This record gives sequence, C-alpha cells and structure tokens, in this order.
Amino acid sequence: MSKDLSNYRKSYIKGELNESDLPKNPITLFSDFFNIIENNKSEREPNAMSVSTVDINGFPSTRVVLLKKYSELGFVFYTNYKSKKGQDILQNPNVCLSFYWSSTEQQVIIKGLAFKVSESESNTYFNSRPEGSKLGAIVSNQSQVIPSREFLYKKAENLKKSNKALIKPESWGGFIVKPVLIEFWQGKDNRLHDRIVYKKENDKNWKLYRLSP
Ligand SMILES: Cc1cc2nc3c(=O)[nH]c(=O)nc-3n(C[C@H](O)[C@H](O)[C@H](O)COP(=O)(O)O)c2cc1C
Repeated sequence: MSKDLSNYRKSYIKGELNESDLPKNPITLFSDFFNIIENNKSEREPNAMSVSTVDINGFPSTRVVLLKKYSELGFVFYTNYKSKKGQDILQNPNVCLSFYWSSTEQQVIIKGLAFKVSESESNTYFNSRPEGSKLGAIVSNQSQVIPSREFLYKKAENLKKSNKALIKPESWGGFIVKPVLIEFWQGKDNRLHDRIVYKKENDKNWKLYRLSP
C-alpha cells in the first residue's frame, strides 16, 4: 500500500509577524495568539499541544497533552509522574512543547525546563475535575501494559461501587514548563513564512530575532 501526497499543498495567507508590532514579552504574544483562537472558536481544542521529552538514551518521544494554565511563570499540564513522559522528565527536565493552529496558520514552539507543580496546586486541579476524570486518573497506571480494556473498566467500576473518596494519587500531578526559548511561526505565501524567536537572556529580558523559514 502506498499513497503519494506530493500534491497536498496549501497557501498560507492569514497573517504576518512584524517586529514593530511585537511585544517585548513572548507570553504577551502567546496570549494574543491564544485569545484570538479561543474567541473565534475555530479550533476544537486550542489548548492541545505536543510535548517532547528525551529518555536517558537520548531517544525522543512526543505526545499530545492539554495545556491547563499559562502565565509569566510557565506552561502547566497534568499527567501521571510514573508515565513514560513523567519518567523522562524526572531524569531530564529539558522538554519541547508545540502548538499548531491550522485555522490561523500559526505554530508556537516552546523549549524549556519542566518542574513538578506544588502538591497543593495539583490537588486543587484534581479536585476540580469531573468524577469520571478522577476515576480514570486513579485506575490508570499510565503507560503500563495491561491485559485488556475490560481490566481497566472493571477497576474503574469497582472503585466507583466502593464509594471511596476519589483522592489524587501521589503519582499524578502537574508539570510547569519554564520557557527558555519561544518561536512564533506564521504561515506566509510562497513558503516565505515569518519566524520570530524570543530567547531568554535573564529573568526580565528576552532577545528577539527572526529566522529564515
Ligand atoms: C487531545 C489529547 C489530549 C490529551 N491530554 C492529555 C493530558 O492532558 N495529560 C496526559 O497525561 N495525557 C493526555 N493525552 C494522552 C497522551 O497523548 C498520552 O497518550 C499519554 O499521556 C501517555 O503518554 P506517555 O506514555 O508518552 O507518557 C491526551 C491525548 C490527546 C490526543
């Protein structure tokens, strides 16, 4: 089976990044991008992002997670610390996040260091989740091999029937990614895209430069 996709080709025409309009702080620009997408409701999950981690052998893995918070301090997502990504991060905190929003023809790539958020922050978020999500997080030893789907469903059903309090597992919580470099990509015609990078110089300042597409 083979399929030729060489004719798949789109023009990108929806915007541009001009140095004269750009804020000094990349979180402000991220927020501008995000708010536009959120308001025009063009993406089903605008907060879906890929997270790349690297294992002890230098082998990378990428998967999608949901961004749950962003601020000057960083980008927060929740997961199981014993999962593949959790284990990778605990051995090597260097990660890369990436968003692609096709409706605005934008990509954002964030390189940074991931740290566990506080237990209390993880608890607050866990307790805000619907019952089904809590059950799922408790019964799933994420990234472990299991014998069948039934095995998992049974675990969830038994826990539900037991009427036990749904308490956050110790191994479940948030990571905050503190950025050291953020690239904003805006698709342009004829593949002459805009790429603007903010590189962290110190606690207050970011160096801004443009890359060739
Ligand atoms: C749209 C979408 C959102 C997801 N959100 C999360 C999330 O917030 N946290 C999480 O641990 N996994 C999430 N997942 C599942 C992950 O992609 C992945 O399968 C899981 O975390 C196990 O990854 P790992 O074995 O590499 O650690 C999501 C998947 C998709 C497609």
